Amino acid sequence: MKSFHQSGLVVLSALVGALALAGCRQDMHDQPKYKAAGYSEFFADHRNNRPLVPNTVARGRLNEDDHLYRGKIDGKDAESYPFPITADILQRGRERFAIYCQPCHSPQGDGNGIVVQRGMKRPPSWHIERLQKAPPGYIFGVITNGFGAMYDYSERIKVEDRWAIVAYVQTLQASQNTKAEELTPAERQKLTAAAAMGHEGTGGTKAGGAAGAHDEKKPH
Ligand code: HEC
Repeated sequence: MKSFHQSGLVVLSALVGALALAGCRQDMHDQPKYKAAGYSEFFADHRNNRPLVPNTVARGRLNEDDHLYRGKIDGKDAESYPFPITADILQRGRERFAIYCQPCHSPQGDGNGIVVQRGMKRPPSWHIERLQKAPPGYIFGVITNGFGAMYDYSERIKVEDRWAIVAYVQTLQASQNTKAEELTPAERQKLTAAAAMGHEGTGGTKAGGAAGAHDEKKPH
């Protein structure tokens, strides 16, 4: 068992320690310092922030690559992807699509999503000829810059994810526009088996018969 004398000593040394620490803290508080965008007597322009050297670019913000960031090659909509599309990227695209596009464009891309059913302007089906033929860079541009009544997603979806979505959109387009004869016998067998199981996929019937039902709009 500790004596009173011993525990008193412990308390005393703790107190001394605390006082010493408090002293340090005070020093840190009182030291001369500038606050961001404050006033300075020292510099001729009285700003304590120093202006950036002309043409400074924040690290990682140069966004030089036209293909990656704007979907363009030599000023034209890119016909290719800026990086290889793997199964993982396609899966990511599918998830992002379900979050960001499906509410309006529907799971099949026919433009009759849940938001549209509640009053939003109906987008064209992605299975009309003009959009079937649209290059990946064009779809990337629509996501990045918006299109007519559709607002842009440049703040919400990062660049790589936008490309992943484009890949999924193009996959969806192919799924609605591939003839049974174009499949290998193995693929056809899989399809028949899936249909027999009542499998709910995006394939099968043409998306709600909506293709072409929407008045065509010229791209700008
Ligand atoms: C809030 C509803 C909404 C969401 C969400 C939405 N869109 Fe759209 N989208 C529209 C509408 C409406 C149009 C037709 C705009 C017009 O013609 O004024 C459109 C048009 C398009 C077009 C066709 C452009 C053309 O040339 O006709 C593409 C491609 C497209 N959207 C892709 C996407 C993708 C990809 C996403 C997800 C990242 C997405 N949209 C999310 C409403 C939406």
